[in-house]
Amino acid sequence: MDGIKKDYVFHRDLKKEYPIITHGVGVYLIDENGKKYLDACSGAVAANLGHGIISIGESMAEQAKKAAFVHTMRFETKALHELAETIGKMAPIHLNKVYFTTGGSEANESALKLARQFHRDAGRPQKHIVIGRWQSYHGNTIGSLSAGGDVKRRHAYTPNLLNYAHVYSPYCHRCPYDRQKNDCLSKQNWTCVTDIEKTILELGPENVSAFIAEPIVGSQQGAVPPPPGYFEKVRELCDRYEIVLIIDEVMTGFGRTGTNFATEQIGIEPDIITFGKGVSAGYAPLAGMIVHDRLIDGLIQNSDGKFIHGYTYSGHPVAVAAGLAALEVYEQEMVLENVKKQGPYLVNRLLELKQKHSYISDVRGKGLLIGIELVKDRKHDLLFDPSEKAAERLNGIAIELGAVFYPGSGAIDGTKGEHLIISPPLNVTNTEIDEIVRILDESFTIFKGLLRKDELYEITK
Ligand SMILES: Cc1ncc(COP(=O)(O)O)c(C=O)c1O
Repeated sequence: MDGIKKDYVFHRDLKKEYPIITHGVGVYLIDENGKKYLDACSGAVAANLGHGIISIGESMAEQAKKAAFVHTMRFETKALHELAETIGKMAPIHLNKVYFTTGGSEANESALKLARQFHRDAGRPQKHIVIGRWQSYHGNTIGSLSAGGDVKRRHAYTPNLLNYAHVYSPYCHRCPYDRQKNDCLSKQNWTCVTDIEKTILELGPENVSAFIAEPIVGSQQGAVPPPPGYFEKVRELCDRYEIVLIIDEVMTGFGRTGTNFATEQIGIEPDIITFGKGVSAGYAPLAGMIVHDRLIDGLIQNSDGKFIHGYTYSGHPVAVAAGLAALEVYEQEMVLENVKKQGPYLVNRLLELKQKHSYISDVRGKGLLIGIELVKDRKHDLLFDPSEKAAERLNGIAIELGAVFYPGSGAIDGTKGEHLIISPPLNVTNTEIDEIVRILDESFTIFKGLLRKDELYEITK
């Protein structure tokens, strides 16, 4: 235990010390020493309305005073019905039933199981394999981790993972299939799509249960949107081979990309949308899935109407009260309008920064889910070595200067490729965006100095 602080918390990193946050105001978090941190990534793209919203806290307290816990095997609450209705009405037209969980991993776990039960009940008992995509993240439970393609997170648990299949997603900036975007678009011959069909045929369509994808790849690739038309082709394949299409909107849902769900922008109707994070704006652990009528009809017609699944805290009254109150604030503050205004403003400011710092090779994303790819030298497309931990170090400097970003690595092949996500609360102002960009600019300048020191060290050692 040498060098490790003696306390009782099993920290994310046992060798690190973390500031203690006492409270938050708007886009700022404040620690016990009074230091302010501009929350430029909404925590983990969750605190989408910022901090200290009294009405959400009060709604949670009101609900807690009425009933602490209601087991959804026997009872329900009004708040549960109201929230399900609100979410169902926001979703695509044929997705109407809302199932609640406490986190995004559980939401995806539920979706994978529902797909399987749907096929089994419909007389397709062999269908059980899920196809996911490399460099995608769907959660940390064994099922969701198996479906995801985050190489680093999967590595330690390889023997425990389920035998799911993976294809590459359309990361056109560095196509994993070595194709050129314009060539694909003009010829309408996309390797990233033909590879899905090839994988289905190799596995045997009779064995494939579901395909799962993030509409915009978040934490693992740093906000990479798909090329137009990609998901329409995926939808066609899923229809052709009777595969349940799960769109993971845990990060993108509830206005993050400028529409209620990013699904609206990819032009398809999925069979299941999973959601989390933004639904309660981070005020309570709340997530879930919205399910297409045809899956619900299947459960009713082909079985006794029961989904063989469930969690103690599904639809917890205080969590759903937080969700309801948060969605009201989204409406009142007209966040969709704000995202449509501030998203392009942020992108333009970052493109200015790109001119100044050759570490930025790409600015991409949708709405207020924006990523920048970091390279050592843009002119020569020189990548950082993963051991340099570029994104993490840059974020460390920014935290010192008073802003927090969401760093990531492995976007290209699981190890190489560094990025930073900038995803402030959806009610951010342009003055606050200016502050984010100013701190990022200063961070790059300090970062440059540190890299020079590293290089000098390499030369002299
Ligand atoms: C796209 C996506 N899916 C699933 C998850 C897992 O959610 P949770 O951490 O709430 O289990 C995350 C979390 O970052 C995510 O970004």
